[in-house]
Amino acid sequence: MKRGFFVASFGYTNMCGIIGYTGMGNALPKITKGLSVLEYRGYDSVGLAARIGEEIATVKCRGRIGALEEKLKMQITAESHTAIGHTRWATHGGPSDINAHPHRAGRVVLVHNGIIENDGELKRELTAAGRTFLSETDTEVAAALLDVCYDEQNDPVAAIRAATARMRGSYAFGILFEDRADEVFAVRAGSPLILAKGADGYYLASDMTALLPFTSEYACLEEGEIAHLCASGVTVYAAEGKTHTPVWLHTDMTPEAAQKGGFAHFMQKEIEEQPHAIRQSLSPRTASGLPDFSADGITPDFWRAVGSVQIVACGSAMHAGLLGVRLFEELAGVPTTCHVASEYRYHPPVAREDTLVILISQSGETADTLAALRDAKRKKLSTLAIVNAVETSIAREAERRIYTYAGPEIAVATTKGYCTQLSVLYLIAAAMAHAKGMIGEQEARALVNTLVEDAPAAVEGMLAKKEMLRSLAELVAQREHVFFIGRGSDCALAEEGALKLKEISYIHAEAYAAGELKHGTISLIEEGTPVVALSTEQELYDKTESNVREVCSRGARVILLCREDAPVSASAEKTVRLPITSHAATLFAALAALQLLAYEAAVLRGTDIDRPRNLAKSVTVE
Ligand code: AGP
Repeated sequence: MKRGFFVASFGYTNMCGIIGYTGMGNALPKITKGLSVLEYRGYDSVGLAARIGEEIATVKCRGRIGALEEKLKMQITAESHTAIGHTRWATHGGPSDINAHPHRAGRVVLVHNGIIENDGELKRELTAAGRTFLSETDTEVAAALLDVCYDEQNDPVAAIRAATARMRGSYAFGILFEDRADEVFAVRAGSPLILAKGADGYYLASDMTALLPFTSEYACLEEGEIAHLCASGVTVYAAEGKTHTPVWLHTDMTPEAAQKGGFAHFMQKEIEEQPHAIRQSLSPRTASGLPDFSADGITPDFWRAVGSVQIVACGSAMHAGLLGVRLFEELAGVPTTCHVASEYRYHPPVAREDTLVILISQSGETADTLAALRDAKRKKLSTLAIVNAVETSIAREAERRIYTYAGPEIAVATTKGYCTQLSVLYLIAAAMAHAKGMIGEQEARALVNTLVEDAPAAVEGMLAKKEMLRSLAELVAQREHVFFIGRGSDCALAEEGALKLKEISYIHAEAYAAGELKHGTISLIEEGTPVVALSTEQELYDKTESNVREVCSRGARVILLCREDAPVSASAEKTVRLPITSHAATLFAALAALQLLAYEAAVLRGTDIDRPRNLAKSVTVE
């Protein structure tokens, strides 16, 4: 049996988990076991559909697997040999029984992983054709479209091909057709799907983790391929119509290791997921090529009416806000300030009636940020939350919310959470600038392109240099003090670099405005002190280089992160060159370098990287 290495095929954590089975065994315990293994990914609702005789029974609910199992005991008592299951991390439509998967339309029952970007257009077309919808989800729209195509084609594979040809976005579907007993179909584009061969049947899943309890023989479904599973085997229909049976690979991955997708830590996995997370967060808001938050219920008129902005957050979210200040003021000309949430109420900044208060929070449950939100609402200020975890307190209580579709973030130290906050802030700046006439359509399109194309590519480029970052980490790993310096927006980025390093490696790290160091703190620089100097802005390079010389002359060992067109530093010991295809590319590449530097230093120090001492993933106390 050929040994396979399936990590690369699905390193990303999608927002939802899929599992399916058909064979001689009892499907229900397999599905619930597989779903429980997927729990680590985070979810807010769960469900399954099982063939019982001629019928397909669906059981689903908001909440945990345990709640589903209680419902199953009451609703399905017969054995089933074919079923599909799903854990949902809500994007379109909050967590609820109705929005949970599977979704049914006519003879079709399906589960979905991904985002259908043109679901609104398709829903209007299907509604006009007489279809009705129960949920708020894009998935139910996909089910209805597939049912229409099935009525027309009366062949599952042809219907799947016709329906997915109408969809834009990312999807992985597990599908049951009511008149195709003990058969499961699947198709993917942009979201992964794994097929597997067990002792008593065949499986599909969005993540091999879910299948390791049953088998170690798997095959990856490729982009655009359709799979047809039945008790006697699996047939794969390639995009151009040819069929083949899967070549089964063997993995010796353990369930625990596989939950991390084969990575050593969730943090490493989440750093790698960032290009995908940026694209997921931006694509529903850039489908036209311009910044468009209409799907979030926010129009250009809303942005046009914003007179000033107060960004309020904690930790890394606040650091993203510091960069938001620069973006909002430089691109949109909107006076903007950024505040530590725990201090916001003690010295409430002056606000006007056209002041927008933006709360940023990955978890959506940070008590300090929630308190600041309530404070702003008491003052009748307009509030907008940028949150990753859907339907959380901050998301629910804010007047408006924009979700970052980064997917569940398990590591305590945020990476893709911060990265997607920054990408959304950048897009908001572009939207505000365009709405206010500060930039024209052409410049707005160009900005969107740099965010959707350059930013993910820049992160991917830096991820490819992880070996180099690993060697640089040796410069800092055994030291007790490290300084991060920068000017302009690099000062804000330095704050995030310092926090990442200290919170996972326990090295004391401090960010400093490069020009400020000489006013006191430089007394702490001694022989061998590592200093990470950031220089992403061309016009500030010379001044930052003089600060590099200052610290080097006192014994510092400098790692310089600078543009690839910057002159060779006469003083820095190591230089990391950053792409200059656009400001976004330079910025996101520098971020990825700082994250990798912190991660590799922590690996060298052997700390508990995913669960650092004293820290919680969501600080729900003030
Ligand atoms: C970031 O790595 C830290 N874990 C922490 O600073 C975090 O950013 C802060 O607690 C805010 O959390 P939130 O984004 O969930 O509100």
